[in-house]
Amino acid sequence: MTRYEQLAQQLREQIRTGVWQEGDKLPSLRETVRRSGLSLMTVLSAYQLLESQGWVRSRPQSGYFVAPAREATRYSFPQQPLQPAETVDINAFIFSVLQAGNNPDCVALGSAFPDPSLFPQHQLSRALIRVARQMHADVTGVTLPPGCADLRRSIAQRYAARGMEISPDEIVITSGALEALNLSLQALTQPGDWVVVESPAFYGALQAIERHHLKAVAVATDPQQGMDLDALAQALQQYPVKACWLMSHCQNPLGGTMPNANKQRLLALLAEHQISLIEDDVYGELYAGLTPPRPAKAWDTQGRVLHCGSFSKTLATGFRIGWVAAGQQAEAIQRLQLMSTLSTSAPMQLALADYLSSHRYDKHLHTLRRTLEQRKHIFYRAIQREFPASIRVYYAEGSYFLWLELPPHCCATRLYRRALKAGITIAPGRMFAAGEQYRHCFRLNASLPWNARSEAAIKQLAALIAEQLALR
Ligand SMILES: Cc1ncc(COP(=O)(O)O)c(C=O)c1O
Repeated sequence: MTRYEQLAQQLREQIRTGVWQEGDKLPSLRETVRRSGLSLMTVLSAYQLLESQGWVRSRPQSGYFVAPAREATRYSFPQQPLQPAETVDINAFIFSVLQAGNNPDCVALGSAFPDPSLFPQHQLSRALIRVARQMHADVTGVTLPPGCADLRRSIAQRYAARGMEISPDEIVITSGALEALNLSLQALTQPGDWVVVESPAFYGALQAIERHHLKAVAVATDPQQGMDLDALAQALQQYPVKACWLMSHCQNPLGGTMPNANKQRLLALLAEHQISLIEDDVYGELYAGLTPPRPAKAWDTQGRVLHCGSFSKTLATGFRIGWVAAGQQAEAIQRLQLMSTLSTSAPMQLALADYLSSHRYDKHLHTLRRTLEQRKHIFYRAIQREFPASIRVYYAEGSYFLWLELPPHCCATRLYRRALKAGITIAPGRMFAAGEQYRHCFRLNASLPWNARSEAAIKQLAALIAEQLALR
């Protein structure tokens, strides 16, 4: 990182932690030069970077001031804090949206994956080549559950760096987080059981519930606070819930991260009812700021949290490597895996273990987080500039999603169809609930590079939204 970027990061952190608050004047350029020993050019570049990212505003002749918080848009919970669904029937819709979006000519604003050019393709290819050269004909030991020992040790070391003691024996390597999540759900439930999910929820949770013939009670979730824990307490009283599935960090689709105090209360509530938590943490490494958040699993003293992660959003989408730190359920998960997919691809596991042993991952993550943060800012500002003022945009720190709400009479599925015809994908709100409560919402992927193509797509989307607004 260059010096001006370091200074910008320091100031950003100070704004985030409240040292400088909205409207405060930052120390003058001259004052910062004196205090930091940096050159005027370096300090000016840092201030200009912060301004380009929306953290501060300059006023001619007066200096730089902290800009209004971006999450000023307050979320209003849906009318009902609990939304029960005896049957979930969403897969056909999800399938059609994902298939239609699988076209490289489209501007992929609906994609759930970050821009693949942000991944270290070259280093990963070299790891694959190294592994292919050394791989023995007999890799049975690697391919049987729980998976490659070196990879599980590397993952355990990453937990240790966050102050969490997770034994490699508790970790099962899976085919992406999706298999980890599905196996976890299967280990905890029988067909017909009730499962708590978020509202809105990652559609993979709804598909898993449909696939395993379960019932869902969706609990209102807020972009800043996470799941509404009072509503969860009510759900646990009213329904014989067998498992709770949620995201503690960078929730998909809202983007928000649950505060630590809420994670602790969540675990206490679930423990009272002896319910296990499936913690979907695929975006946990894409946090904002300097300190990684601790998953709810960090407070789990009873082995009741099944913490699911993957490398799909941070390193290697196509490798399809994930894991679950499964606590009490580690053996059950292995048995289920043996009965279903048998195991995860050996070359991919070995290549990731090889890459992780080079200790480049943290540096890559650092750059990735910074780039994603900058790109999200740029998209957010463009949306504010181009979209009609009646559109609400929820900006949560971390990851790369923006959640948008059209006025209630508008239909985001119709917008999605119109946008698709124009070569742009979006993720319509209907993907994220068993019912229709988010039909006026959609999720945008803000990880794409800002260039003529993405700018044209945002302008086109703005025009299509204006058309929708006119339909009354
Ligand atoms: C919230 C969430 N969980 C899990 C997954 C699946 O992760 P993977 O690709 O590692 O299977 C996704 C992918 O979009 C996701 O958004």
